[in-house]
Amino acid sequence: MHNSLCCAACGLSHPVDILQNLCTRCAKPLVAGYDLEALRDRFTPDVVRRRAGRSMWRFWEVMPVASASDAVSLGEGGTPLLQCARRGPFAEFESLFLKDESGNPTCSFKARGMSAAITRAKQLGVTDVALPSAGNAAGAAAYYAARAGMSCHLFMPQDTPPANIIESVVAGARVYLVNGLISDCGKLVKRGCGEFGWFDLSTLKEPFRIEGKKTMGYELAFDVAEACGEHHILRLPDCVIYPAGGGTGLIGMWKAFDEMERLGWIGSARPRMVVVQAEQCAPIVRAFQAGDEFAELFQNAATVAAGLRVPAAVGDFMMLRVLRESGGTALTVTDGELLQGVRELARHQGVYACPEGGAAWKAAQKLSAVGWLKPGEHTVLFNTGSGLKYNHLFPPGDLPVLDHTDPACLRAVQIS
Ligand SMILES: Cc1ncc(COP(=O)(O)O)c(C=O)c1O
Ligand SMILES: [Zn+2]
Repeated sequence: MHNSLCCAACGLSHPVDILQNLCTRCAKPLVAGYDLEALRDRFTPDVVRRRAGRSMWRFWEVMPVASASDAVSLGEGGTPLLQCARRGPFAEFESLFLKDESGNPTCSFKARGMSAAITRAKQLGVTDVALPSAGNAAGAAAYYAARAGMSCHLFMPQDTPPANIIESVVAGARVYLVNGLISDCGKLVKRGCGEFGWFDLSTLKEPFRIEGKKTMGYELAFDVAEACGEHHILRLPDCVIYPAGGGTGLIGMWKAFDEMERLGWIGSARPRMVVVQAEQCAPIVRAFQAGDEFAELFQNAATVAAGLRVPAAVGDFMMLRVLRESGGTALTVTDGELLQGVRELARHQGVYACPEGGAAWKAAQKLSAVGWLKPGEHTVLFNTGSGLKYNHLFPPGDLPVLDHTDPACLRAVQIS
């Protein structure tokens, strides 16, 4: 259970036992802290390894609960780290891994953050949650709210992937489509929270989604060691490539590395953290390249990778800090490239990735081409969700329809 909540910008400490959103002084995100010294003896990698089940609540000591049984859980986390087969365009990569988040409940990594946030909100008596969403966060919120017996109010851009809208409606969420971007949805949520008393679950405006997402960082240390055949130590990769919108996962993983060091689990070495964004919505890439501390609103943001269509992020300075402290970088890919990335992951790795995952793979290819990624380096790509939510981007075209009563119908078969 956390014992502090401090502002990531000004450091102001906030009470831990009441609902919190942004810092009451400077309106920046709050970050949870734990008494890690006191946990050193009883919370060890071996204790975690011996636990039954693979859910992210294996790490409950560094989550907002007094015990794992307090969690509102649908079995999130514990996703596979797949080594990429050296085939096709992947052949040149000796040690490329895919952390495949598509198997989470509601098919994306958003499940981790929502499980933690709804768990904490439930403890503090919340009955109604609200959030703006690019799609997957809405789906996750709808189902965790349903699991917790809460009402859920969702505000999504009109052109959000149909799968996300439908799954949310099926779960009984109140869904509102907005003729604007996620930032416009966020403004409506803020007003609604003021008028109707909902609790605001927006990315980083709520302190515990980051706690859920940080479990990806804890898991990586176990996964990478196991992939190297080392079952008694922990090991981080050399590089992590993350498709960033609001950046919760990136910031969360960086926090996890810091906590693991303070727990005595790992040393001071860190992966280089890479942010990939879409060419037509790249506020963080632009700010990183300009050497700025904060990012400016990205005008006319547009990309088919709905999760990356975030023109302004409240945690911009936190993402930029991670990139610089880790010696990482930030780069863009075009929509054409990221869709091609999805096809390549499907055909050569057997994974139907979301467009955001396709973007991570294409970023790895670009970084390798310029020598920024070295062939032997352990690199982890994040596939943050399932391609099944984005079927609308891959219409199959005119497929042959066979008349099974016609003996000659197999003439349409292509022999390769
Ligand atoms: C599939 C997918 N990938 C990546 C992101 C971006 O995640 P974050 O807000 O943690 O940067 C999202 C957010 O909507 C998403 O749905
Ligand atoms: Zn502050």
